[in-house]
Amino acid sequence: MTVRIRINGVERELDVDPEMPLLWALRDVLALTGTKYGCGQALCGACTVHLDGQVVRSCVTPVGRAAGKAVTTIEGLSPDGNHPLQKAWVNLGVPQCGFCQAGQIMTAAALLSRIPKPTDAQIEQSLAGNLCRCGTYGRIRAAIKQAAGLEGDAGEEKSR
Ligand code: FES
Ligand code: FES
Repeated sequence: MTVRIRINGVERELDVDPEMPLLWALRDVLALTGTKYGCGQALCGACTVHLDGQVVRSCVTPVGRAAGKAVTTIEGLSPDGNHPLQKAWVNLGVPQCGFCQAGQIMTAAALLSRIPKPTDAQIEQSLAGNLCRCGTYGRIRAAIKQAAGLEGDAGEEKSR
């Protein structure tokens, strides 16, 4: 069956089973491998993408649910890696192994598009479902604040 989806601004026709997880279609059919597989059970957030601007766990989202909609992955977040979050991530050296980071950034991007100047509590709540085995949470919070123009205690957070 053909599923039509707008992916990172480009209309795509995918000849796939509509029950296939969106993550599989992104990674295995479209070679968009920035989105990661962590748990496959909506528990870790590594596979987070935007579906019509909302965060979804692509490992448990059937590709058919994205039919006629817009999907944005980390590859499409900005034309050349210049999204304020991506710049802040680089400035503060956020990643360790990097595996969780695309999901973290996509979740943070959805937060900032909804709430441009989030409070600490809103950041905590929004990112609560995105796990990082390397424990980069302090730098993630600092980078979100920097991208939002809320420098605050970024220097202190960076050292954690
Ligand atoms: S791989 Fe989807 S939430 Fe973990
Ligand atoms: S940077 Fe390694 S899992 Fe988050």
